[in-house]
Amino acid sequence: MNQHLHQSPPQRWGCFLFLLLHLQLHVPADACYTSIFSFGDSITDTGNTYFISPQLTPNCLIPPYGQTYFHHPTGRCSDGRIILDFIADYMAIPHLTPYLAFKNGVVPRGTIHHGLNFAIAGATALDRTFFEDKGFVVDPTTNYSLTVQLDWFKDLLPSLCTSPSSCKEVLSSSLFIVGEIGVNDYGYLLEEETTELAKLTPYIHQIVSVITSVIRELINLGAVTLMVPGSIPLGCNPGYLTELATTNKEEYDRSGCLKWLNKLYGQHNELLQIELGRLRVLHPNVNIIYADYFNAALQFYRSPEQFGFGRDFIKVCCGGGGPYNFNGTAVCGDAGAIACDDPSEYIYWDGYHYTEAAYRWMAKALFDGPYTFPKFSFSCITPETSGDFNNRAMK
Ligand SMILES: *[C@@H]1O[C@H](CO)[C@@H](O)[C@H](O)[C@H]1NC(C)=O
Ligand SMILES: *[C@@H]1O[C@H](CO)[C@@H](O)[C@H](O)[C@H]1NC(C)=O
Repeated sequence: MNQHLHQSPPQRWGCFLFLLLHLQLHVPADACYTSIFSFGDSITDTGNTYFISPQLTPNCLIPPYGQTYFHHPTGRCSDGRIILDFIADYMAIPHLTPYLAFKNGVVPRGTIHHGLNFAIAGATALDRTFFEDKGFVVDPTTNYSLTVQLDWFKDLLPSLCTSPSSCKEVLSSSLFIVGEIGVNDYGYLLEEETTELAKLTPYIHQIVSVITSVIRELINLGAVTLMVPGSIPLGCNPGYLTELATTNKEEYDRSGCLKWLNKLYGQHNELLQIELGRLRVLHPNVNIIYADYFNAALQFYRSPEQFGFGRDFIKVCCGGGGPYNFNGTAVCGDAGAIACDDPSEYIYWDGYHYTEAAYRWMAKALFDGPYTFPKFSFSCITPETSGDFNNRAMK
């Protein structure tokens, strides 16, 4: 701390703020979860997307999606399992049922006792009206914002528990995963408004404040442990690298990612963490864990070979040609796109979503690495289940 004595007052103030925000940080050692409730977008959807009308069917429901693990499409936007599946595996909880499968009565009622997944491909943090009011062309799948997903959870509550004390018990033994969410909001703004960083940053507050207000509501309902993933580094995303390509080499970092774009998501994550720090102070008995998907994914670009990614790691596994094998008119699932032989050699499965291999490494980074804050111990894990995870994960 001594070095801070010589800093100018604003820096010392910064140091004080840092201490204030990071003080009350420990997850109880006996934390043990029987269910998971998850909110988010296509990074986390496990099949909700299937239940919205067929004409809206996104490609995530078409082969070769799902080919690696489930051997058929499940609505997951990947070749196999996603981070949420690995978290569930690790905690010895069955893969999460999509909420809309439960709502449509196609799964047994008992499945809700392990939790449900509200995440749905295309979801934004902000409501549909925000984008409509700006005059944007809004995709029909954008009806299921974070607040809509929270309403789904509230509708579900009476099925989960019947008295205040039973609700307290259910909610306090559940892990709530809120996000990743927000990248589709920035996606709309990038596509329909501006690709200037300075014009995008004012929206960060609006997007982060929706996330924090949903967290506050969950806490008020009785949630005790919440994991809040930050944004992924979309400046490395082959879809955006194709659409926002520039001849100015200065705009790319050493990994070939767009610097200004990663800066946007980095700023989002910074503000999110500041707000989470505030919430920790207000709710000292609640565990609020930040999950650093951003840096967990950036590791891949620094040493791809360490993770088994191949020479073409910057390209998409399942795509329709072009410098990044991403082609907007022939995306994965379309006739003009084909999948690579070995998806585990690629970070990205399609233009926007990771391969199972990348998701598995990101999940492992959360369990083992410094990528949860405060460090989250999945402490109910038996040696057998974690061994099982490691065997399967690191084959
Ligand atoms: C989405 O919302 C719009 C506007 O409220 C509505 O017209 C449309 O039918 C909704 N679509 C779906 C799939 O729910
Ligand atoms: C993109 O896909 C279209 C349709 O399949 C094809 O005509 C075009 O050549 C592809 N572009 C590249 C760069 O491969």
